[in-house]
Amino acid sequence: MRRDGPVSRRWPQPLEAGTPVAGLLIAVESIGGSGKSTLAARLVQWLQELNLGVTASREPGATSFGAELRRLLLEGRFAPVPWADAFLFEADRAQTCATVIEPALSAGHIVVSDRNLYGTIAYQGFASGIDVEIIDVLNRAATGGRYPDLILVMDAEPHLALERKRGSKLKDRFDERDINFQAAAREGYLFAARRDPDRAHVLDGAGPEDVVFALAQQIVRAALSAHGFAVPRA
Ligand SMILES: Nc1ncnc2c1ncn2[C@@H]1O[C@H](COP(=O)(O)OP(=O)(O)OP(=O)(O)O)[C@@H](O)[C@H]1O
Ligand SMILES: [Mg+2]
Repeated sequence: MRRDGPVSRRWPQPLEAGTPVAGLLIAVESIGGSGKSTLAARLVQWLQELNLGVTASREPGATSFGAELRRLLLEGRFAPVPWADAFLFEADRAQTCATVIEPALSAGHIVVSDRNLYGTIAYQGFASGIDVEIIDVLNRAATGGRYPDLILVMDAEPHLALERKRGSKLKDRFDERDINFQAAAREGYLFAARRDPDRAHVLDGAGPEDVVFALAQQIVRAALSAHGFAVPRA
């Protein structure tokens, strides 16, 4: 698959089963240190304050099984090859999708996912060399075809993102990789966003936290309205 031009994926197609759902799936994506968790937590809190049904999810590690996978994936004790990483991230995704995301969407919740399927395109695809077309197929299989309705990509220079995580206990095996690896992953996120012009927004992760949040609020409000949610002004 060409990585530089406009590329169309054959996704989302109609899901085989279980559609439509009442809820909305929002993914926050980026390389480590760009501010995803900060933004995702603020979005969850804001939506709760609006009295909307919200479920916070994350990848990897939203389930008890996934917490074990997260440990295996992110701690530096092991050296999984890219394919092993890809399958384990997809295993976590399958578990999370089936047991956290789908039930929440069926209940009409807004799901805010701290990382989602773009990460595998970015890290295992762009940064580690696995063919993105194959990752698309794996993602589709793991999610049963559930694609995020809205994707917020927190874009930031790898130097800045890594600097923010310097000395952090939350630094993981992927954050330890060199700047070229981070830069390739960043390109992967931007590539994935380019393929999704109808639902992906690239935000400046280097900007002040409140500015990023205010912009994200506007985008989420618009998406909620477009999907038929009554959003109180507050
Ligand atoms: N807009 C911002 N400006 C300055 N600092 C920020 C901003 N957003 C987040 N930070 C800080 O940067 C650090 C990393 O942020 P955060 O944990 O949200 O990143 P992340 O993308 O979730 O990283 P990871 O992928 O490793 O979990 C935190 O200390 C956070 O407080
Ligand atoms: Mg985080």
